[in-house]
Amino acid sequence: MAEAPAPTPVKKVPIHLQSAQNRLYIKNGKIVNHDKSFCADIYVEDGKIKFVGPSTDIVIPGGVRVIDANEKLILPGGIDPHTHFQLPFGGTVAVDDFYRGTKAALAGGTTTIIDFVIPQKKESLLEAYDTWRSWADPKVCCDYALHVAVTWWSKSVSDEMKILCEERGVNSFKMFMAYKGLFQLNDSELLEAFERCRELGAVAQVHAENGDIIAKNVKKLLESGINGPDGHELSRQEEVEAEAVNRACILAHQMQCPLYVVHVMSKSAAIEVKRARERYNQKGIYGETLAAALGTDGTNYKHECWHHAAAHVLSPPLRPDKTTPQFLMKSLADDNLQTTGSDNCTFNRNQKELGRDDFSKIPNGVNGVEDRMSVVWEKGVHAGILDPCKFVAVTSTNAAKIFNLYPQKGRIAVGSDADILIWNPKTTRRISAKTHYQACDFNIFEGMVCHGVPEIVIAKGRICVENDAVRVAEGQGTFLPTSVFPPFVYNALNGRAENHDDMDQTNHKDVTKEDLDIDLFTKAVDDILIEPKEESVYTPSKAPRLDGQKNMQESTFSISEELDKSEKRSCIRVRNPPGGKSSGFW
Ligand code: URP
Ligand code: ZN
Ligand code: ZN
Repeated sequence: MAEAPAPTPVKKVPIHLQSAQNRLYIKNGKIVNHDKSFCADIYVEDGKIKFVGPSTDIVIPGGVRVIDANEKLILPGGIDPHTHFQLPFGGTVAVDDFYRGTKAALAGGTTTIIDFVIPQKKESLLEAYDTWRSWADPKVCCDYALHVAVTWWSKSVSDEMKILCEERGVNSFKMFMAYKGLFQLNDSELLEAFERCRELGAVAQVHAENGDIIAKNVKKLLESGINGPDGHELSRQEEVEAEAVNRACILAHQMQCPLYVVHVMSKSAAIEVKRARERYNQKGIYGETLAAALGTDGTNYKHECWHHAAAHVLSPPLRPDKTTPQFLMKSLADDNLQTTGSDNCTFNRNQKELGRDDFSKIPNGVNGVEDRMSVVWEKGVHAGILDPCKFVAVTSTNAAKIFNLYPQKGRIAVGSDADILIWNPKTTRRISAKTHYQACDFNIFEGMVCHGVPEIVIAKGRICVENDAVRVAEGQGTFLPTSVFPPFVYNALNGRAENHDDMDQTNHKDVTKEDLDIDLFTKAVDDILIEPKEESVYTPSKAPRLDGQKNMQESTFSISEELDKSEKRSCIRVRNPPGGKSSGFW
């Protein structure tokens, strides 16, 4: 096809015009990465981003689909680091399989998921891994990676961890401190697993709840006649989670192993993650919270309808303290937590019924893979707690960095996979089980109106969502092998990059009376949409918070900068870092 003449002599970018595979040109949008936002056009070919820059720097080849992103934001596709599709659990199987789950993910703007292989006790980790691959590969609509759970300990488990890392593309292992008698490891097994992770260059993960305390509490509660869903939270209250977080951080630190605490659900647990990060100079400890914890709360366990209450049962549980969601969102804003997952593990009404007479038998899990992005935007950005760059960090980039998928995933840049969202921050949608793509019959966010809609979702250059329709094919996604020693995690631990001066630069400040007189959120969005500066660093404006108080966030680049800098400075050893040396190994 003939090239259109360029209007003025410009630097030409070599484009392979012969390839007709999924060629897209996105114009007039504002790109938001975790570290800056700027106006630029994007050219996509063969599933990759080939060009990012001003329209004057590229001649658009013929036969290209042009997308006008005027007034929209262009974001990296979301990464959900925590799903359980078709998980056999509690005597039944989660209803969102790898097809429905990944289709729903795409519908909501998530273009990569990371699921968990969970072997039974005594089961070979490699066999379990093969089982998950055989379930996922033919069905996935988006790209996916795998974490593997270590549910028992032996030499063979230790040996298989090595094979998984070296030959199967796994770089992270989850250890359970709860589910006594099923998946729970004791402290000495945790130490072995952490030590092995460190040797292999893997990231250790923990489900942090004290399973011994829970077992005792469950027995007591049932004996005293408390058998409904509210007993679930009573059996595993905040301190039961917080104690395990604190213990896991210390055990991992002693083994010099980086630790990622999954599903941080309470204020007390988030405080423990923050304290550990401070103690170890922000190195080696990372925390994830869930869409569920940000978008709803544990008062649902007291709902008059048993099914409604049971539908909210997951572990650790949602907390009855209604200030929890905003606290967790602020923890993300302040870089005390780093990522948001969904922990999508869905069971229908008839499956939740398994625990009708005993809350401890209610299959654990909720939805979230489809709604995570919108819930975080609504409760984070729209509420004035996160700026759009931070939104990208906590929904995509930080997970990509921690699990070594960056910059293939988690960034709009030349060479990255073309996982792109055309995000409209001004339109709204109402969440409902009646309209969601997930297989489950209940939605814990039912009725929530969310600003922030992924109008177009592009996964590896393929338009999967457009005009409210989702077009996907089973098996169009691929497995993403992840390599060990993620530089973002291990460079920091090895002292190759100074860490804490890249950390959160949040500067809380009071809002003046004038600030409160204008619609600050609208201004914030307008600023990023209209501002015509190239490569401008986005400085978030102030916006009101949900509670009607003031917004206090300034731009928070925080941990997300570490890799960018550590790549350049990987040989620099910091002897006397500002803020003092780490006490201990890190
Ligand atoms: O309740 C939950 N979280 N179900 C999934 C399994 C887990 O512990 O992550
Ligand atoms: Zn868990
Ligand atoms: Zn989980």
